Amino acid sequence: MKSHPMLTPILYVCCLFFLLSYLTIATSTPLYNPVENIVVNCGSLGSLKGNDDRVWIGDKGSKFAPTEEPNHKSKTSEAQSQVSVEAVPYMTARLSYWQFTYVFPVTPGPKFVRLYFYSAVYSGFESSKDFFTVKAGSFTLLRNFSASIYADSLDRKDIYKEFCINVDENQELNLTFIPFTTTSMNYHAFINGIEIVSMPMDLYYKPQDVIKGEEFVPVFVGQPNPFYIDYSMALEMVYRLNAGGSAIQVQDDTGMSRKWSEDRDYMLSGGFVPRNPSLKPKYTKIPNYTAPDAVYQSAISMGRDRTKNMQSNLTWGLLVDTGFNYLVRLHFCEIEPRYMPVG
Ligand SMILES: *[C@@H]1O[C@H](CO)[C@@H](O)[C@H](O)[C@H]1NC(C)=O
Ligand SMILES: *[C@@H]1O[C@H](CO)[C@@H](O)[C@H](O)[C@H]1NC(C)=O
Ligand SMILES: *[C@@H]1O[C@H](CO)[C@@H](O)[C@H](O)[C@H]1NC(C)=O
Ligand SMILES: *[C@@H]1O[C@H](CO)[C@@H](O)[C@H](O)[C@H]1NC(C)=O
Repeated sequence: MKSHPMLTPILYVCCLFFLLSYLTIATSTPLYNPVENIVVNCGSLGSLKGNDDRVWIGDKGSKFAPTEEPNHKSKTSEAQSQVSVEAVPYMTARLSYWQFTYVFPVTPGPKFVRLYFYSAVYSGFESSKDFFTVKAGSFTLLRNFSASIYADSLDRKDIYKEFCINVDENQELNLTFIPFTTTSMNYHAFINGIEIVSMPMDLYYKPQDVIKGEEFVPVFVGQPNPFYIDYSMALEMVYRLNAGGSAIQVQDDTGMSRKWSEDRDYMLSGGFVPRNPSLKPKYTKIPNYTAPDAVYQSAISMGRDRTKNMQSNLTWGLLVDTGFNYLVRLHFCEIEPRYMPVG
């Protein structure tokens, strides 16, 4: 695995059970300040503020305009069918029958790469004929991907994909969009928005030479050996859930613009939902940017019925693709005041 860099989707499930304690200071400054926080509104001119309070830069005529072959130019277009989605970055797109590359000069280190797609009709392109591959340097992030099929499978029009990749010293971060080609059919690639956000060195990456405490290194379930996640690996986010709580928007993350979804659609068992919105977790073992406080202020619990608990469990059902390794991160915080003593 280490010698063969591969894409490892990560599965985030956040379940919260054990109380840390209370902290009284409230703050609105982000706990993590990314060096790069680039948001590009593809197919658009000038800058526009998004619902996330960030200024999205149009790629038309800007430093973020993609490179392409002079006789194989991409086109920009406004979405013709517009259901109620956020205008930025979904209402405009860059589309092409040929490959195009976005070049981002960034500092070395791990980055979140988020790709935003709006499945719609764009003038000059057949909406069901999107099949393409997206590469970032040596990583294939998406292979023969169809945003329209993926959107249909989720029963929505606006979709996004999130990856983590590491950028080495003196390297650009290149994102190349390559339409699937056959002799008989014209397929196209398209993109509505691109986001690059620096991430902490060891938030999800756990390389052997960087991690000090073995307790923070994941293991394969049922096996004792640590599984180091080194910088030659790429990760794809599959689920990021706030157990027992509501969705957390990107502007309410700790500075990394992660979106946290509700878990209730994935919960197969019952469960009690304790909430403690006034709780201020005190971060002693993990950095305070690990997750927003809101993640720790709600939980799913089995409740106190001992007999019932012996016969039941808490179960979430999450569809994933086969052929990958999955990282499962569980967040715990005891929020029920009656469980005060440690242990
Ligand atoms: C890409 O997807 C299309 C449509 O499903 C399929 O016809 C084609 O064979 C796929 N190409 C590759 C290289 O997988
Ligand atoms: C990124 O693309 C540019 C322009 O095509 C190229 O000069 C550069 O070598 C590429 N960098 C990487 C890391 O692939
Ligand atoms: C978060 O942690 C950092 C590093 O330990 C510390 O400097 C900062 O004050 C903390 N912020 C809050 C709001 O606790
Ligand atoms: C969880 O409990 C249900 C019954 O409530 C049972 O059918 C199922 O097998 C249990 N799952 C596990 C993993 O124990």
